[in-house]
Amino acid sequence: RPRLGITALGSYAPPRIVTNADFEAYLDTTAEWIESRTGIRERHFAADSEFTSHMGLGAVRDMLERDPDALEGVDMVICATATPDAMFPSTAALIAGQVGLTGSGAFDLSTACSGFVYGLSMAQGLILAGTARRVLVIGGEVLSKIVDQNDRNTAILFGDGAGAAVVGPVPDGYGFQEFVLGADSAGGPALFKGCIADRLPDGTPMGPKADMNGREVFKFAVRVLGDSGNAVLRKTGLSSADVDWVIPHQANVRIIEAAMQRFGIPMDKTVVNLDRYGNTSSATVPLVLREAVDDGRVQDGQQLLLVAFGGGLSWAAATMRW
Ligand code: ACO
Repeated sequence: RPRLGITALGSYAPPRIVTNADFEAYLDTTAEWIESRTGIRERHFAADSEFTSHMGLGAVRDMLERDPDALEGVDMVICATATPDAMFPSTAALIAGQVGLTGSGAFDLSTACSGFVYGLSMAQGLILAGTARRVLVIGGEVLSKIVDQNDRNTAILFGDGAGAAVVGPVPDGYGFQEFVLGADSAGGPALFKGCIADRLPDGTPMGPKADMNGREVFKFAVRVLGDSGNAVLRKTGLSSADVDWVIPHQANVRIIEAAMQRFGIPMDKTVVNLDRYGNTSSATVPLVLREAVDDGRVQDGQQLLLVAFGGGLSWAAATMRW
């Protein structure tokens, strides 16, 4: 089968920065608690008038500044998001219409923080099936708008932003190798945000703001990152020693440390930027990957392991040669 991979990458974070000290002013918390328990120092928040489509548009524009021909041949747009502008039109269609992709297929994908890695896999499948030639995959969020800013359990964790990637043909020896995707709604009550239904199937009541059992999500995250990362390496026929860089979902540096232990890969082979962005859900993987490519850590031909987890509860892991 033809080799497919990421042919262009862009990212965006809104200009407003909210520091840990800003939360001290009105929440029963301290900057020291937030940093020591999560690794987060600051995050970006969208303006009142900005939504996920603005984040995604920013990421696509960043991509086009680097490579003006990046969207050439794109005929499908996927936006992975837990914070769509609307139920419909899809955020993907809203972005497509503003970047000259009117008429291409467009849909949103809902697997919360695992969404970008899920999206890469969907893009590969659509191209291999002959449905699309090239796919624009966006992971974008405005989590600040669905978090209760007076709830110290969640307010401190999340930030806003987006990443965008074009998936298309790459030379032999490069690109995607294997994917492992999963979800288990038994963990749904540990992390949710209501929409139309007022409760989950088990009766857990849902409101308009995100709710989370942090300890449960933490335990789940460490287990599934380790299991799915090791599973996708086995599926690819690789050992942890073959991995040049682990590109993990950025939720909590302690979760990343625990996952790296489970892979048997040292911390200096992963990239962390949650100190500056917090958890931007489906945007974390493209944001951190773009940063690591820009600063020269991730180099041509290197072996990457992408791992993510999120609401669902869900998980997604991928191997690829950059
Ligand atoms: N400041 C001060 N104290 C706090 C804060 C805060 N901001 N938040 C919670 N606490 C308190 C708790 O109330 C608890 O108090 P108690 O012992 O009196 O009950 C105490 O701190 C310790 O709570 P723990 O839950 O044990 O703290 P922990 O070390 O686990 O850290 C955290 C909490 C940061 C939420 C952690 O559990 C975590 O990161 N979990 C994963 C969260 C996550 O990744 N969510 C995103 C999923 S991705 C998606 O799809 C959106």
